[in-house]
Amino acid sequence: MKALVAYYSQTGNTEKIARAIYDAIPVAKEIKPVDDVESAQGYDIIFCGFPVHAHGVPGKAQPFIKGLPAGQKIAFFSTHGSLRGGQLPKQAFEEAIGLAPKATVLGHFGCRGRVDQKIIDSLMKKIEHRAWAEEAQSAAGHPDAGDLEDAKTFAAEMFAKARP
Ligand SMILES: Cc1cc2nc3c(=O)[nH]c(=O)nc-3n(C[C@H](O)[C@H](O)[C@H](O)COP(=O)(O)O)c2cc1C
Repeated sequence: MKALVAYYSQTGNTEKIARAIYDAIPVAKEIKPVDDVESAQGYDIIFCGFPVHAHGVPGKAQPFIKGLPAGQKIAFFSTHGSLRGGQLPKQAFEEAIGLAPKATVLGHFGCRGRVDQKIIDSLMKKIEHRAWAEEAQSAAGHPDAGDLEDAKTFAAEMFAKARP
């Protein structure tokens, strides 16, 4: 079997999760930023990760997802400033699944990622964004060791599902 971990990461959080997933894969494997993937053909499973931007998939990750081969087994992962388990991060996965309608999505994993202080500061100034900015502030320190362990468990589960 052969696995690819492809990720987009602006400030390094999603890359940390990508590396934890990569470490947990027990077969031939590659890890690359989405922009460096020349072809998504020939993998038994692709893990694809991105940070949640504006409750959705960032524009820079979209071309890779749209280009996934039909029938490709895929597992999505993301990092986000919002609390884990909320509706908004889930919405971003729904968007990702919609961008790859012919792929076979095995599952998805999300965890919190520290939000750039400049973003928090600018959102704090806008009354309509202040509640979210306060929530996002508590993502400091993530992804932490527990998040990395959870990502490894997710990788093992997805890998077991992908076995022929
Ligand atoms: C432009 C921008 C928009 C963001 N929008 C959201 C959002 O809508 N919801 C959310 O939970 N986090 C949002 N975040 C926070 C990031 O998803 C979070 O910090 C993530 O861990 C960053 O990952 P990275 O370091 O891999 O780029 C946003 C961050 C940026 C820079």
